[in-house]
Amino acid sequence: MAKIIAGIGSSHVPAIGAALDNGKTEEPYWKRVFSGFEKSKEWMAKTKPDVAIVVYNDHASAFSVEMIPTFALGCAAEFPPADEGWGPRPVPVVKGHPALAAHIAQSVILDEFDLTIVNKMEVDHGLTVPMNLLFGQPKDAWPCPVIPLAVNVVMYPPPTGHRCYMLGKALRRAVESYPEDLKVVIFGTGGLSHQISGPRAGLINSKWDKSFLDNLSKDPKKLTRIPHLEYMREAGAEGIEMVMWLIMRGALDDKVDEVYRFYTVPASNTAVGHIILENARKASGTRKVAGKSKRGSAGKSRQAAARTSIHRIASKGTR
Ligand SMILES: [Fe+2]
Repeated sequence: MAKIIAGIGSSHVPAIGAALDNGKTEEPYWKRVFSGFEKSKEWMAKTKPDVAIVVYNDHASAFSVEMIPTFALGCAAEFPPADEGWGPRPVPVVKGHPALAAHIAQSVILDEFDLTIVNKMEVDHGLTVPMNLLFGQPKDAWPCPVIPLAVNVVMYPPPTGHRCYMLGKALRRAVESYPEDLKVVIFGTGGLSHQISGPRAGLINSKWDKSFLDNLSKDPKKLTRIPHLEYMREAGAEGIEMVMWLIMRGALDDKVDEVYRFYTVPASNTAVGHIILENARKASGTRKVAGKSKRGSAGKSRQAAARTSIHRIASKGTR
């Protein structure tokens, strides 16, 4: 049985990718940023996940103002790096996990979260920069398959923090109903406070960011009640990306072990935040977790009924 063992929150600042790609990691400005991820890379090398679900937002690379899905799940076998104006980043093609992704799509949609299924998609810095920060710079291949989950935080209205948190819980139910033994980690990316245009360009609110990280670790339900306007006012227009961290957090236990945190200002014109949270019961298997689920029986039976009807349709499908 697959299980989510840990969540990673990380900024996905494009300038970090440019610093990596242009050999600037040892420059004092960038060394301050990259040194904060050294322990994280060690943690990831020890954790050795079988699959990573990466929650991120597309920056007009795969989608545009013509079409922006609220939640788009990457179900393809591979996702090439996008050309964001300077050519594609020199990083390996991201390999997907189509079987688990298809299972997640079925489970989550029957759980009444209407994901968009994406079978062809390029991925931009929103996904590849956090991958670099945690996995380093592999030459030929990333160490594990990745399931991208793109969230609309660029065109109003983005999803609420509460919706994101509940989607995380649905993702966990999906992963934990997959029969193969897989260790899964989930990334929530973006933020922290930043605003890239307008009279408040350059806004950074460290006090608010740090409070967000504290609550993410200890009291995430409090964060689910933050309205969009508060993100905009306190964390800047692009600070709304932080709702994506709540998908990651929703996929974890209510109580987690915070194993690492890093925060620095600035990188480009943003605050950089990073956190690693482990499920306290990660070694105890998923039966116990499933048994403690607070999910209502009505939700379970709705999904079970929907699955049954799908199976009936499938069995009649040879006509
Ligand atoms: Fe972003």
